[in-house]
Amino acid sequence: MNFELILVNPAYAAHIALIQLNRPKELNALNLQLMLELKQALSQLDDLEEVRCIIITGNQQAFAAGADIKQMESKNAIDLLKIDQFETWDQIRKTKKPIIAAVSGFALGGGCELAMTCDMIIASESAKFGQPEIKIGIMPGAGGTQRLTRAIGKANAMEMVLTGKFISAEEAQRMGLVNRVVPEEIYLDEAVKLAKEIALMSPIAIRLAKESVNKAFESGLQEGLYFERKNFYMTFASEDQKEGMNAFVEKRKPIFTGK
Ligand code: CAA
Repeated sequence: MNFELILVNPAYAAHIALIQLNRPKELNALNLQLMLELKQALSQLDDLEEVRCIIITGNQQAFAAGADIKQMESKNAIDLLKIDQFETWDQIRKTKKPIIAAVSGFALGGGCELAMTCDMIIASESAKFGQPEIKIGIMPGAGGTQRLTRAIGKANAMEMVLTGKFISAEEAQRMGLVNRVVPEEIYLDEAVKLAKEIALMSPIAIRLAKESVNKAFESGLQEGLYFERKNFYMTFASEDQKEGMNAFVEKRKPIFTGK
């Protein structure tokens, strides 16, 4: 998996793939090529049976400082409509395997939106989250007004989106945006630890459960409950369900094979 603007290791640890955004001089600004590469990498990792969990990270200084302002500066609305860059983001959202964002430094604009598109966020103490688009005369366009509001509530999201202020990792945790905050030296290790825990479970149950939790963001309660029920029944079509329940009865650890 050779890309120019991201580094991909499909076997970073057992069953765990790592994608590192790699435009350090530009604070990992998300230009069109990077996003396209990210989409392709995720799609390839989704197809690799041995991969059970994916981590996306940047570097200590920046997860990503947003969409590439220099690339967007001269564009008009019709250019953007034709480029249709958010179609790429939609594809990322459709990744079936769980994705953990390991965030240190800036996660701003599209960077914050990318972290929120992932399923969980592990933050280093130096992480700063923000939707500063308002300061450059625009507004969030990759889910910032929607996902942030659902994650931290209307009042908090409104203040961040209307003032462009950054929040610290600690504030982000208090507001429910991130799973946990750890020292900078171990934020990636912490993400790997979480990924390893998930990788021990049945990949089929994990896929169906991820789908169901995401459904809660997209539907009313009745529709969500119905969707959950169908996915619950579906887990009983897997060998992993037999293995999991059998192991419980036999008082041993289950070994899930994804069948
Ligand atoms: N796009 C393009 N280049 C960027 C960038 C971005 N979003 N963010 C940083 N860079 C570049 C800078 O231009 C600079 O490059 P040069 O050395 O060539 O000048 C380099 O990265 C380092 O940045 P700074 O010198 O600005 O570093 P700093 O430490 O002084 O400040 C910062 C860091 C506060 C993150 C600042 O860079 C900043 O405000 N960046 C822009 C943040 C932003 O507005 N993001 C939203 C973008 S729009 C968007 O994301 C839309 C959407 O919803 C999809």
